[in-house]
Amino acid sequence: MPVTEGFIDVHCHILPGLDDGAPSMEDSLRMVAIARDDGVAGIVATPHILQGLYENSCEAIGLATSELQLSQDACPIYQGAEMRVTRALVDSVDRNSLQLINGKTHLLLELPSRSVPPLDVMEKIVRNLRAAGVIPLIAHPERNLVLRDTPCYMHRLAIHGALFQVTAMSITSDLGNDVRRSVFRMIRYGLVHVVASDAHDPLKRPPVLSRAFHVICGEFGQGKAEELFMENPLKIINGEGIKKWGAATAAPHRKDIRTAETAGDSGHRYEPDRVGAGTDGTACCSGQGY
Ligand SMILES: [Fe+2]
Repeated sequence: MPVTEGFIDVHCHILPGLDDGAPSMEDSLRMVAIARDDGVAGIVATPHILQGLYENSCEAIGLATSELQLSQDACPIYQGAEMRVTRALVDSVDRNSLQLINGKTHLLLELPSRSVPPLDVMEKIVRNLRAAGVIPLIAHPERNLVLRDTPCYMHRLAIHGALFQVTAMSITSDLGNDVRRSVFRMIRYGLVHVVASDAHDPLKRPPVLSRAFHVICGEFGQGKAEELFMENPLKIINGEGIKKWGAATAAPHRKDIRTAETAGDSGHRYEPDRVGAGTDGTACCSGQGY
């Protein structure tokens, strides 16, 4: 079914039983209905891929996507994944092994919630992916405790070709005013390319985009909102390139440039192989549902 109009949600844990998203097909179908009622015209199913916790293969994701699509015809479902950044990406990238969005060009990539790789390591990962013809789309930077306060780290990754997705509930203050302020600052710096739901269930984290869309319309204008909720997501599912920089309205502060260099140091230890735990020992994946 082709997408004709409406929002495109490129980050949604809608497949039943593959991760900490929808637990059953019944819940998945309820999420589809909620999304359609909200004006969503296409959903990318993005179950976690996280070594040791969610070992979802491309084949398993493909089967579950087809099953959900065959169970309803209200909304097209596209195959994708939210892949936790791994040390292996520093050394080499096997494009064929990656679950790209709709099998095209973009890879939804998740960082740990409480740390980031050292900047030079992350720059190398982005360069490796781009050299392999893959465009990294980094999920919810505003929910990462380091990136939230270090927009220049994002800026450096954007220079190498990374894109950024923020979460609708971050815009509507459901995750706190500090998170919302961070998102607005990222948008002013031109560092946000797409907004998605990152929905996990029908109730607490539903696949709703309209509320955030209206907030962005009010704050940045309808053209910006359509770019982030419709135009860029449509390009992503079609595997098309999108404008590297949003329309920045402010330059990063000098202190942000300084902190980018040290964002991945021992103050925020990077532990990509440590599954399910943040640097303070608390759960950072399934526990918080990222
Ligand atoms: Fe997610």
